[in-house]
Amino acid sequence: MSEDGAGVPSAVAAGSQDQGGTGRTLYLEIFRYNPADPDSEPQFRTYPLEETPGMTLFIALNLIREEQEPGLQFDFVCRAGICGSCGMLINGRPGLACRTLTASMEPRIRLAPLPVFELIGDLSVNTGKWMRGMSERLQTWVPATVDADIDSIEAPMEPELAEQIYELERCIECGCCIAGCGTAIMHERFAGAVGLNKVARFRLDPRDTRSDGNYYELIGDDDGIFGCMSLMGCQDVCPKSLPLQTQLAYLRRKMLRAGLIATG
Ligand code: SF4
Ligand code: SF4
Ligand code: FES
Repeated sequence: MSEDGAGVPSAVAAGSQDQGGTGRTLYLEIFRYNPADPDSEPQFRTYPLEETPGMTLFIALNLIREEQEPGLQFDFVCRAGICGSCGMLINGRPGLACRTLTASMEPRIRLAPLPVFELIGDLSVNTGKWMRGMSERLQTWVPATVDADIDSIEAPMEPELAEQIYELERCIECGCCIAGCGTAIMHERFAGAVGLNKVARFRLDPRDTRSDGNYYELIGDDDGIFGCMSLMGCQDVCPKSLPLQTQLAYLRRKMLRAGLIATG
């Protein structure tokens, strides 16, 4: 996502304004930089803000933009941990601004854009571009093997299997696992937990007729499953608590076997 959310009504941003303060003043140290402006220098600027009950970083950023810094760039759409737009480094750790209560932190809060992704400006990054590239490299879709017949009845699926697939479908492509992954930071084309989780999801899908050998061609190298160092930074920061460790271990076993068969 890369929308900067400038059109959100002020009532949304104000959120908790009428509830009185908590008595704390927050100091948000926010990364400011506009890569499109040759005069812009990367820097942190500090914005004081009176905390209100139930305040999230989403509310705090909107108030700062309304009252102090109209040009501040950051992304959000849903405010509910669903769209994945508001990922950022919160005191150095990837997380969602809309799901982070300021009450859970010390008053001085440092916000920076997620690394790895192209910087649009300030806290806004282009996760969509990265996700598209990953998706095209890993072919994260069910390949069509028959012509679609819109009059046919829906194919049944065992509820247990559907549940397993939906569990992995909960990924919101926020990019937090990529920002928290040492391999993704060093290797531009590494699929990361988000990509490998998608492969695991399609591997489960009975409509996907690709073999382990086909998947090996997609992820059987250092840009795929063998680039993963298994330190699980991804699982630690995933705001949807996806079972990434289990999926990565599953794929590693599958791909090791497929690799042994491929090399005889
Ligand atoms: S796996 Fe988790 S951290 Fe990674 S993009 Fe999906 S929801 Fe975000
Ligand atoms: S376990 Fe693998 S995908 Fe997850 S953070 Fe570590 S290297 Fe990245
Ligand atoms: S605004 Fe949608 S996840 Fe935070």
